[in-house]
Amino acid sequence: MSTDMNMEEIQEYAGNMLGHMVGAATVICSDLAHKLGFYGHLAGSGGMSAGDLSQAAGTNERLTRELLDQQASAGVLTYDAEVDTYALSDAGAMVMAEQHSPAWLAGGLGAVRAMYVGLDQVEAAFRGDGGVPWGDHHPCLFDGTLEFFRPCYEHHLVQEFIPALEGGEERIKSGAVVADVGCGAGLSTLTMAAAFPESTFVGIDFHGPSIEMAKAAAEEQGLSNVRFEVESATSYQGSYDLVCFFDCMHDMGDPVGIATHAKSQLGENGSVMLIEPFAFDSRQENHAGLGGAFYGFSSFFCTPCSLSQEVGRGMGAQAGEPGMRAVFDEAGYGNFQRISETPTNIVYEAFA
Ligand SMILES: C[S@@+](CC[C@H](N)C(=O)[O-])C[C@H]1O[C@@H](n2cnc3c(N)ncnc32)[C@H](O)[C@@H]1O
Repeated sequence: MSTDMNMEEIQEYAGNMLGHMVGAATVICSDLAHKLGFYGHLAGSGGMSAGDLSQAAGTNERLTRELLDQQASAGVLTYDAEVDTYALSDAGAMVMAEQHSPAWLAGGLGAVRAMYVGLDQVEAAFRGDGGVPWGDHHPCLFDGTLEFFRPCYEHHLVQEFIPALEGGEERIKSGAVVADVGCGAGLSTLTMAAAFPESTFVGIDFHGPSIEMAKAAAEEQGLSNVRFEVESATSYQGSYDLVCFFDCMHDMGDPVGIATHAKSQLGENGSVMLIEPFAFDSRQENHAGLGGAFYGFSSFFCTPCSLSQEVGRGMGAQAGEPGMRAVFDEAGYGNFQRISETPTNIVYEAFA
């Protein structure tokens, strides 16, 4: 080791990495606390002792105490030493306990767990052809994905994204036929179906277990204007007023072929609506903030999923507007535009 190394710089670098280790431990500990129902018990309680919480949740008291101390160390909970209780703030409850809050995050932690669980198969893909089919991951990915995107679909899709389409919601309101391709567990499809009862929605995904989850949710909600089909993005048939690809186009192997197929399934004045992860136009700009999570998910799930399919374009989750525009140009669309965005997503509409 060179003697003129800058110790301050090394300490700063190590401090950054240690911060990530605390974050990694906090994510998995919070996922466990979520699974055990701790946040639900703590929300609105004004604080609970480890004993009371373990009794309410039916968990081992000693282990509960240890996890609560981890959560207090990481700022997820607060600790009141005088009365020996742990509390979840009202703001914290919006993030960790309220499934339908716009700030809900606890359910999405399962998607990060899937990275840890799937490390060995992803390592093998890195040493091999790069492909890991979506369905080969642990089921916590499918549930984690559903919950990660829940705030977007429940609070933005019908309220902002559909009205931003050309023709707005009027076009989708009265008897439209809509395909939601790569719908996963179908939350987006069901959200639209509930909001537009006069229209018909078809959720399509090639992953059977996700479609089973979607069918069960549709039955539970008693919606009759929606159906789900196990089908690839290149083989579904119909005449649609709107074909949606929500947080899935970049996961697909042949996005140009898939966009071309969508074009052939559009009725008169039909369009394609895309929701993609937020990304800036350049790689450097993405190397900050959420880029650490998006490139992480992309290394483990999105890009291996694409590389496991025909063509294997491997766009990655941070392809951004330049990447998506190129796909729709190559597929021969005449019009492609950004119509809305949130801090985590960009929404586009394309016309043939
Ligand atoms: C990141 S998930 C998004 C799921 C859903 N749209 C959501 O937002 O929760 C990507 C989905 O694309 C599906 N998918 C990937 N490639 C596909 C293909 N070629 N045909 C059909 N579905 C595909 C996967 O099975 C998975 O459900």
